[in-house]
Amino acid sequence: MSESIQITKGAEKAILYDELLPQIHGVLQSETDLIANLANVSAILKEAFQFFWVGFYLVQGEELVLGPFQGSLACTRIKKGRGVCGKSWETRQIILVPDVNLFPGHIACSSLSRSEMVVPIFKNNEVVGVLDVDSDQLDDFNQTDAHYLEKLAVMIGQTLK
Ligand code: SME
Repeated sequence: MSESIQITKGAEKAILYDELLPQIHGVLQSETDLIANLANVSAILKEAFQFFWVGFYLVQGEELVLGPFQGSLACTRIKKGRGVCGKSWETRQIILVPDVNLFPGHIACSSLSRSEMVVPIFKNNEVVGVLDVDSDQLDDFNQTDAHYLEKLAVMIGQTLK
């Protein structure tokens, strides 16, 4: 496995994602342990995009439990339907939140988080976890992020088969 990620500094998001996804695929193919892989994916996304917070919550029974992440201290358990993460799990949809203060029930792990996107991860058609990215800027995520982060979630789901 390569121990560094090659990216074009300052490139626009779509180009960065196009560069990153094949490299992430390589990382996922070289290791079978889920926690190790999610830890490396968090690190890669943080390094490439400087997201304020990036990480995973994994389904355990009726709750999401905090998994590997990069960023500040985060809440550890989220019930189905609660917050952006629990809502993404319940609805099985990507949720884009341009302003967290306008999302009813948003769970503020950090008061510095201003916008957020949550992407569900499926295994055998069931949500098994979510990828959560937070920004300290308003309206920092768009359909480009949704498009590529969904591809990434599919890639992760395929490693679970
Ligand atoms: N804001 C999320 C909680 C997780 S943290 O942002 C890391 C939510 O509303 O589900």
